[in-house]
Amino acid sequence: MKALLCTAFGLPDNLAITEIELLPLQDTEVRIAVYACGVNFPDALIIQNKYQFKPSLPFSPGGEVAGIIVAVGNAVKHLLIGTRVLALSIWGGFAEEINVDASRVFPIPPTMDFITAASTLYTFGTSYHALKDRATLKSGETVLILGAAGGVGSAAIMLAKQMGATVIAAASTADKLAFCKEIGADFCINYSEEDLRSRLKSITDDKGVDVVYDAVGGKLAEPAFRSIAWNGRYLVVGFATGEIPQLPFNLPLLKGASIIGVFWGSFAEREPSASMQNSMDIVRWLQEGKIHQPIHKIYSLEEAGTAIQDLMLRKVLGKAVVEIKKEKQEPLSMHSSVSTKSKSDEPAAQNKLVITGKKEITKHIGKTIGPSDWLTITQEMIDSFANTTFDFQWVHTDVEKAKMLLPEGKTIAHGFLSLSLVSQFFYQLIQIENIPAFFNYGLNKVRFIAPVPVNSKIRLVATLSGMEELSNGHIKLFINSTIMKEGSEKPVLIAEIISLIT
Ligand SMILES: NC(=O)c1ccc[n+]([C@@H]2O[C@H](COP(=O)([O-])OP(=O)(O)OC[C@H]3O[C@@H](n4cnc5c(N)ncnc54)[C@H](OP(=O)(O)O)[C@@H]3O)[C@@H](O)[C@H]2O)c1
Repeated sequence: MKALLCTAFGLPDNLAITEIELLPLQDTEVRIAVYACGVNFPDALIIQNKYQFKPSLPFSPGGEVAGIIVAVGNAVKHLLIGTRVLALSIWGGFAEEINVDASRVFPIPPTMDFITAASTLYTFGTSYHALKDRATLKSGETVLILGAAGGVGSAAIMLAKQMGATVIAAASTADKLAFCKEIGADFCINYSEEDLRSRLKSITDDKGVDVVYDAVGGKLAEPAFRSIAWNGRYLVVGFATGEIPQLPFNLPLLKGASIIGVFWGSFAEREPSASMQNSMDIVRWLQEGKIHQPIHKIYSLEEAGTAIQDLMLRKVLGKAVVEIKKEKQEPLSMHSSVSTKSKSDEPAAQNKLVITGKKEITKHIGKTIGPSDWLTITQEMIDSFANTTFDFQWVHTDVEKAKMLLPEGKTIAHGFLSLSLVSQFFYQLIQIENIPAFFNYGLNKVRFIAPVPVNSKIRLVATLSGMEELSNGHIKLFINSTIMKEGSEKPVLIAEIISLIT
């Protein structure tokens, strides 16, 4: 198979596409056919032997991979051949295939394409952890982002806006700042030409900024810290300049401010459930269209060295991604139109997942099932739901008023009506043999994203995301469920359902 190989530490022009053989798969590993791999700052460091992880030569850079599992080690129980995944591999991703320890591999929602999957977690995961967990950013606060047009910087702009903050983007060129403005920045500062401190003073009316997000380091750190507000938080995220700044200790004292370290990789390892929760927020916001990954350029595997070079030359706005293979069938989502192409009333092509007994369930965790057949939401169904729940809001039941007042002139299905259909879809898609009972037991989360007007067709795709064995022998199965509406790229509903298997 082909891989971009680093045979001697140095700059990207040392890298070459080479035919290699992967090492045999270890028991705890899975092999992934790589479809896309994100380009990140550590790729530039690792090929120069300047990164904290130091693989032995020869190796391929590329630490953020998305693809399909093609082989599973003997000790891996929760991942299956055929599952679409992302993997935080640290290196090895600029290649047609990669072996990765299963602990670093995560199933992706059926609605996520490989380009998004390979380019989102590293930058958005870092910036969300920084702003939410480390800075405890609050709505109404002001954030200064240095290197704002870069990978983590651009993610920080979108997340800070999503969290209700006022964003001041700082970067080195007018083009970069125009890009920052486009993705949501409220104010822009060109730090190659303007004085950072005086601009911040005038933007904040002398108050200073509540949070500084610094992924750049170097000479900007001190003026940025001197511009911080009382109780401010200075996030130390990275040193893209290569220079670790020195700061006089009297400054945090005088400002009542904190200097806060951010290490997303360590956070994800030490606090996996908090990290998973953050990832779910990010995926949800992506699905809802509230954030998006700004892709600078999609490079081929042959161009992967150039992609790293562009990053080092500060040419990348947002995120660069290397596409190794194109997905034959597009996913059902944000970037796809599969759901809109299917003909109404034509049963969706799908295989029912048959699980032969309780013990087998674990093998199917991570598996995506569906799509189900399309189902038309009729006024009769809506009325019957209203009768059962005693919830007669006019938007659901008053056909004449809806004609006059609602955007499509149609009544709208109650969100909980769509939710109640998940189990009906689910029985269509999965069968667990030899078990006495299998029923929906609870709901961890639900988001009603878009309305479902009467006569819409909806269907379900779902991922068996986890399981928990209870002391009485019953099993809680966690199912990430997404309901799509025909003709719409956005899901109408996403929910984590818990089913009890007794
Ligand atoms: N702490 C963590 O958990 C964590 C996680 C991810 C990344 N990081 C770190 O965050 C930093 C940025 O990562 P990234 O993925 O956002 O990188 P990136 O996309 O290359 O962005 C870095 C930005 O820094 C600025 N910069 C200034 N001097 C530079 C130089 N000499 N070389 C390159 N860029 C320079 C550039 O903006 P201007 O041209 O506008 O100045 C550039 O857009 C890196 O140091 C990375 O290691 C830390």
